[in-house]
Amino acid sequence: MPFGCQMNRSDTERIRTVLNGMGYSESDDEKHPDVIIRGIVACSVRQKGIDRVYGRIRNWNAGKAGRPEITFITGCILPADRDKFLKLFDLVFPIDQLPRLPDMIRQYGVPTPGSLRPAGEDGGEASSAPVSEVSRKTIPFEIGAPEQGEPGREEARERIENFWRLPPSYSSEIEAYVPIQNGCDKFCTYCAVPYTRGREVSRPSADILREVRRLVEKGCRSITLLGQNVNSYGLDKKGSELSFPDLMRKVGEIGEETGGDFWTFFTSPHPRDISVELLEVMASYPVLADWVHLPLQSGDDEILRKMNRNHSMDRYRQVVQDIRRILPSASLFTDIIVGFNGETVGQFEHTADAMREFRYDMAFIAKYSPRPGAKSAGWEDDVSREEKDRRFRRLGELLQEVAAPENQRRVGTVQRVLVTGKDRKEGYLSAYTEGRIPVRLSVAGAAGAFEAAGYIGSFVDAEIISARPLSIEGRILSGGRG
Ligand code: 5AD
Ligand code: SF4
Repeated sequence: MPFGCQMNRSDTERIRTVLNGMGYSESDDEKHPDVIIRGIVACSVRQKGIDRVYGRIRNWNAGKAGRPEITFITGCILPADRDKFLKLFDLVFPIDQLPRLPDMIRQYGVPTPGSLRPAGEDGGEASSAPVSEVSRKTIPFEIGAPEQGEPGREEARERIENFWRLPPSYSSEIEAYVPIQNGCDKFCTYCAVPYTRGREVSRPSADILREVRRLVEKGCRSITLLGQNVNSYGLDKKGSELSFPDLMRKVGEIGEETGGDFWTFFTSPHPRDISVELLEVMASYPVLADWVHLPLQSGDDEILRKMNRNHSMDRYRQVVQDIRRILPSASLFTDIIVGFNGETVGQFEHTADAMREFRYDMAFIAKYSPRPGAKSAGWEDDVSREEKDRRFRRLGELLQEVAAPENQRRVGTVQRVLVTGKDRKEGYLSAYTEGRIPVRLSVAGAAGAFEAAGYIGSFVDAEIISARPLSIEGRILSGGRG
C-alpha cells in the first residue's frame, strides 16, 4: 500500500469518468481496432518516476506508426519536463483542465463513440469550452493558484473545483480516496509539489461530506482523505470554511448518523500544524482510524531547517507524545529522505536515532533526488549515490528492527481487519488492521479459495498467529459475509 501517489490514483478515477463518458472503454488489448487513447498521470516527486515516463512514451511512440492513437500526460509535471513532454505527447495538460479533455480529443479530429454527460450537480455537460479555444498542445498551463488575493487565484480555484465536481469512477468498492485539497503553500526546499500543483486550494467541505456520505451508504469500508498538507485545510478560505478538525468531526458524525461501519484515514498532516484538537476528535469517533502518517523527512534540526520544514525535533517529539497519549493504540507511519544536500554522516545518524525513538510501524524512505525548479536543486547534490544507497539500506534495516517487536507483540491477539482481496500466496486473503498493518489471512475451517473469497470487502476478527517484521499473519475467527 504505497503512499505518496494516491493523489494520482484519485486523479485517474476522474479521468476514467471523462473517457467513459465519451464512450471509450478500458482495454488491455493492444490490437484494438478503434482509436486508442493512452495517458499517464505523472508524479514528479522523484526523478525515477519521470524517467519511467520517458521510457514509456518512447515505446508508445515507436509502436504508434499508422495507428489511430492519442497520447496524453497530466498530473504533477514540473515546468522543465513539460517543455520536453510537449514534443513527445499529443496532449499535455494540467489536471484541472480535465473537463476540457473531450474538446481536446475532438480537436484532434478523432471520432468519439459517445458524448460526455457526467459531472456537475446540475447534470449539465462538463465540458463547455468552445472547441476553437483549444488548440493542439497549447492548453493553458498555469500552475495552481497564485498568492492569496492575486486575481488569478479565484480562477484557479474555479478550475480545480470544476475538476473535483467530476464524479470519480472508483477503482474499488471497498477503498476510496477522496481529495480534500490541492497544492501546497509550504515550499519545502526539496519538493516539487508547489510548482506542479500550485498553491493550496481547499475543496468545499459540503462536496467532501456529500461524497463521504454516498460512499458510506454504498458500503465503502475504507475512506482516505487526501491533501498535501491537510492541517491547513480551509485556511485559504479565510474563516468561511471548516477547519480540518471540524471536517473530521463531521465525518465522525456521518458515522454516528448512518451507523456505517468504515474507517477514515487521512494523509498527510504537517508536524508543525497537527493539533491536539485533531487527535482528540480522532479519539472521539470510532470511524476515524487510529493511524497517523507523520512525515519526519530528517531527524536533524539543521537539515530540517535547510529543508524549510519549519519545525524542530522538539516539536516533532511533542507531537508523537501527544499521539501516544491521546491515541495509545495508533500506529505511526512516516516519510524520510536520506542524502539531502550536505547531510553528514552525523546528521544521518540523528535520523537513525529518531527511527529508534519513535518506533515507526512503517516508513517510506526515499533517496534525495533534486527536482528542477525546487529551491534545493540549485544546491550541490553532494551525497554520493553509493552513500545514499548505504543510508537507505541502513534505515530500511533499522525500520525492520523497530517494527518487528511491535508486530511480534500482536501475535496471540485478536484484531479486527478489513479484507481487501486475495493474497499473492495461493489460498490466502490480504487484509489490514485499523493501523494499516498488512495482514495475510487464512480461513480456519473454510472449504477453500472460493469460500474465502466471500470475505472480501468485510471486516473480520482474526487471531494473529505469526509476525514478520512489517506484517502479520492471522486466521479468521468470525465476521464477514454479512
Ligand atoms: N527527493 C526524494 N524524496 C522526496 N520526497 C519529496 N520530494 C523528494 C525529493 N526531491 C518524498 C518526501 C515526501 C514523499 C511524498 O516523497 O519524503 O514526504
Ligand atoms: Fe511538499 Fe512540503 Fe508541501 Fe509536503 S508540505 S507537499 S513536502 S512542500
